[in-house]
Amino acid sequence: MQAVGVIGAGQMGAGIAQVSATAGYDVLLTDVTKDRAEAGKAGIAKQLQRQVDKDKIDAATRDAILARIAPVEGTGGMGACDLIVEAATEREEIKRAIFADVGKVMKDGAILASNTSSIPITRLAQATPDPARFIGVHFFNPVPVMGLIEIIRGLATSDATVAAIEAYAERLGKQVVRANDAPGFIVNRVLMPFINEAVFALGEGVATIRDIDLGCQLGLNHPMGPLTLADFIGLDTCLEITRVLFEGTGDPKFRPAPLLVKYVEAGWYGRKTGRGFYDYTGAEPVPTR
Ligand code: 3HC
Repeated sequence: MQAVGVIGAGQMGAGIAQVSATAGYDVLLTDVTKDRAEAGKAGIAKQLQRQVDKDKIDAATRDAILARIAPVEGTGGMGACDLIVEAATEREEIKRAIFADVGKVMKDGAILASNTSSIPITRLAQATPDPARFIGVHFFNPVPVMGLIEIIRGLATSDATVAAIEAYAERLGKQVVRANDAPGFIVNRVLMPFINEAVFALGEGVATIRDIDLGCQLGLNHPMGPLTLADFIGLDTCLEITRVLFEGTGDPKFRPAPLLVKYVEAGWYGRKTGRGFYDYTGAEPVPTR
């Protein structure tokens, strides 16, 4: 496997392109417009420059990584890719349309993978040219920092596809965990109830945002408290995944916290909108309660 296509040049797609190019793959990066793909590459250049500034890589390595990433228009050029990773918006109809498009150009034997965090792989596979060569590869944010890839096999995913993705993950230097195609897979199945419970605790007046976050951060030795992490992931995304858990299992223990629903209805999605549980408009995040 040498050429990797990445569809979606947002935070996750750009991260996947960066780590793939760093591992030596030739990467085609695309988004709804070529400008967005170029912007994704510009973001990667900034990340790599930070590593140069910290003496973690030299300028020649940065240039070589960037030279392996080609922003392209549409999915038409993806015919040369051995692996295509879809990291587009987390909406099923968008992903289905992409699979239909890319399915027309994929070469024989190429693998299609989705970075979905919550949509069932077996269901998505129905929109792909060959469900045996379709698989979930769930990366974590920030992709260059997080050492994990969660691999999700759909009912029809072949052993050869799993083996190829494991080899890809190993070349990226990531550890792999394997999950069956159940709501939330492994990590979000455990993480989202944790975040949701923190929001229940806040809504019920158990403690302030600061104390819930600091309590969990220092008391559990986590890098961030759950409300900070929710803002980092995006409250809209947290709510969407919690709903998948709730609806997919039918178990009331996964019901979304009313305050989480309210924040999303208010458009307070976290860092990306400048406000979530914290206000990000100043120099430092400030708790809003
Ligand atoms: N992209 C690339 N590198 C980044 C980065 C980014 N967005 N943000 C931070 N980094 C790098 C820094 O450059 C630094 O690298 P270095 O050690 O080589 O110098 C390193 O990460 C540490 O960064 P900082 O010192 O600036 O900051 P922190 O020590 O506070 O770490 C953090 C920041 C890595 C984000 C850390 O707080 C963390 O690990 N938080 C938890 C993240 C997490 O749980 N992610 C998973 C979310 S769930 C998910 O993605 C699944 C989805 O389906 C919801």
